[in-house]
Amino acid sequence: MPETDLLKGKRIILGITGSIAAYKAAEITRELIKREAQVYVVMTKAATHFISPLTLQTLSGNPVITELFYERGPQETHIDLASRNDLLLIAPATANIIGKISTGIADDILTTLVLATTSPILMAPAMNEKMYYNSIFKENMEKLARYGVEFIEPEYGELSCGKKGMGRLASISKIIEAVKTALKRRKDLSGKRILVTAGPTQEPIDEVRYIANRSSAKMGFALARAAYEMGGKVILISGPTLLKPPLGVEFIQIRTALEMYEAVKERFKEVDIGIFAAAVADFHPSKAHRGKIKKEEKGLVVELTPNPDILKEIGKDKGSKILVGFAAEVEDLIANASLKLKEKNLDMIVANRISEEGAGFEVDTNIVTIISKEEAIEKLPQLSKDEVARLILKKVVDMVEAAGFEPVTSSVRRMRSPN
Ligand code: CTP
Repeated sequence: MPETDLLKGKRIILGITGSIAAYKAAEITRELIKREAQVYVVMTKAATHFISPLTLQTLSGNPVITELFYERGPQETHIDLASRNDLLLIAPATANIIGKISTGIADDILTTLVLATTSPILMAPAMNEKMYYNSIFKENMEKLARYGVEFIEPEYGELSCGKKGMGRLASISKIIEAVKTALKRRKDLSGKRILVTAGPTQEPIDEVRYIANRSSAKMGFALARAAYEMGGKVILISGPTLLKPPLGVEFIQIRTALEMYEAVKERFKEVDIGIFAAAVADFHPSKAHRGKIKKEEKGLVVELTPNPDILKEIGKDKGSKILVGFAAEVEDLIANASLKLKEKNLDMIVANRISEEGAGFEVDTNIVTIISKEEAIEKLPQLSKDEVARLILKKVVDMVEAAGFEPVTSSVRRMRSPN
């Protein structure tokens, strides 16, 4: 799609906060307007010290809102704005606004809009290097990222204090690129329903102990979040994890492989796409003891019964739905993963060598090789799990487009709700 069409008519709220980089918001507004977007500028009080609302009003052609309580004219209220926008971009975003939003504070017009909006949110931080690397700030940013806020990394360069460092607002072109990507992504999976499995399953030996596979659920959660950000309706079925479910995603928590199997069987019929990232335990103790087994010197023998291979069972009758699996391997990565792809009737498999540094359990990055049904093999470099998720979903979108199928969900959704 040409870039002008991508931005044309799109309603973008541009939030400006109190950083010296606020003057660059004028240029951002110009660039968005040039691409025929509709820009609604919202400024914090601090931002108005750095750049005049009149400048932004003139450039955007729309009234600029600076107060939570303002005389309501014929123009839209902030809630109207929040419910109709396609994207909310905060540039520059100060450490203060990021901190406030991360704790749910809504004490001015911009923070209120953030809580009220259902559109994707992009933030371009700008601040002093010391602030950027501050642990409290980092934690706030990570928390928002978990909720689906996307950050446009600042750059290294001259800062307002005169020193060089990290924290300069990203270049205008990078910000516009990020806006385009976010808008495009939003559309890619709209109207599609996606089921994602994630995390470990726990198989009880008694009421205290269990056996499980190692898994933090990070990859599956990243996939669910990315699928939602791309406009999909997402059902996330996960085993126990410390992670919080991404915003906007239907979350089903299970414990055992059998519970996951039941939940998947129940919900798979409603979806177009299944992505199986769970580290399902292959066995469960044949007998789960009541109470706590007392330790004995002679040790303990636990008999294990195989669990159903959920993905394989689902693959047997998948019809035209798209099915993506994962393969956790120690050796013979491609051969083993390709075998799983065939045996489980998948459209694509994401293989990772769990022994590789920067891949696998508990870490935030992954190194994967994607193998398609047509045996195309693509090894990706070490990337964050969020990036890996987006790339996997991009491939899924390509498959959806190539198949050209009508989502099975349209009829299901029509039955459930008028919209
Ligand atoms: N899987 C599943 N149910 C199981 C086991 C695996 O749904 N009982 C899914 C996983 O979510 C993953 C794929 O099957 O998408 C492959 O899982 P993996 O653990 O790599 O392989 P297994 O099939 O269990 O084979 P093995 O443990 O022998 O490597």
